[in-house]
Amino acid sequence: MNIQPAGHIPASSASPPLEHYPSFAALIEAKRPALPWYTLHPAKFQTAAKRFLDTFPGTTMYAVKANPAPHVLDQIYASGIRHFDTASLAEIELIRGRYPDSKCHFMAPVRIPGESAVAWKKHGLRDFVVDCDQELDKLFAETDGGKGLRIFARVATPLGGAMLELSSKFGTSPQNAGRLLKRISAAGAEAALTFHVGSQCLSPFSYAQAVELARRAAVAASGVKIVALDVGGGFPGPYPGNDVPPPHWYFDTIKEAISTFPMEPGMELLCEPGRALCAEGVSLVTRVILRRDEQLFLNDGIYGSFDELALPAWTADYNRRVYAVWPSGRVRERTGEIKPFKIFGPTCDTLDTLPRPLMLPKTIQQDDYIVLETIGAYSLALRTGFNGFYPDDWAIIDGE
Ligand SMILES: Cc1ncc(COP(=O)(O)O)c(C=O)c1O
Repeated sequence: MNIQPAGHIPASSASPPLEHYPSFAALIEAKRPALPWYTLHPAKFQTAAKRFLDTFPGTTMYAVKANPAPHVLDQIYASGIRHFDTASLAEIELIRGRYPDSKCHFMAPVRIPGESAVAWKKHGLRDFVVDCDQELDKLFAETDGGKGLRIFARVATPLGGAMLELSSKFGTSPQNAGRLLKRISAAGAEAALTFHVGSQCLSPFSYAQAVELARRAAVAASGVKIVALDVGGGFPGPYPGNDVPPPHWYFDTIKEAISTFPMEPGMELLCEPGRALCAEGVSLVTRVILRRDEQLFLNDGIYGSFDELALPAWTADYNRRVYAVWPSGRVRERTGEIKPFKIFGPTCDTLDTLPRPLMLPKTIQQDDYIVLETIGAYSLALRTGFNGFYPDDWAIIDGE
């Protein structure tokens, strides 16, 4: 078992090759794991990346924060992604160390003092984001005045169809963004615009609304050439419990909206999906360590992989399958009538409890396994080492 401090980003060295299994049942039968296992589904990573690389009309960056596990990054890279939205020097060093031919973009609007300087000088990053004068001053001070950089002003978007809003902390009005763009341009940097409609955005129209706000910022910056528009992340994962529109609705809406944007020749369009590139490719195999009447204790919890299941307004769910190990050692899927169970994680903290029950087979028992699919985004990225639990076992499932 690995015990890692909270927030630890793994080293950039090559990962040892993973074992392959044809199915979840085969993995469970072979390992009978006591600790949680993450499984990778390479075909799902490929499909997710292809959607963006073939259909998004610009550059696709992977938002590393959604899942920075090296095995996941290797899948993202193997599926053809070469641009990475990085939010800290640690993420930049992880990506640059692992994939020297990749390109990092520092898309966090507020940065740790000194990190912009290292990103620029040591790693050659050119793209930075700001939403206020103070951060722009910091950036200029750390990069010899910002000349040669491409600096994005971030516009705040209204809470539209996203499950998790990202504009009460970051982003500014179109008017103020226009003023920042003038400062950026006057300093000899290239001026660009960005926004984030919020994560797990269920309404493609939110992107059209946000492009309109970016257009107003471009108008407010009259005379400044806008060299790029980054439409952020927010593209949803296909979770049960959410009515997720088909991916092409998002791309079609964005294409139509940008036709209203004052595009200069050569203006680059970018996006920075996290969830949509990593959610489907990862599943979690977790074990029931105790059944106490209608309560189940699992070997993973909210300090491990279940951060999003604990969010108050979160209505999305993960597909579930339950496997039982028979006395013969064979593993079979447990089906039949389902009912709600209260779920506890393995730590000593009472908060390590899912706020909503999970529907599971009535006959579920201690030592059964629950597989949660589509769990790649913002799950293990947020795992901690609390109480000595830090899930970090991996395998590849070629079937399923
Ligand atoms: C600046 C930025 N870009 C991209 C993302 C990725 O968003 P998503 O995973 O919803 O695509 C986030 C998420 O927090 C973000 O803050």
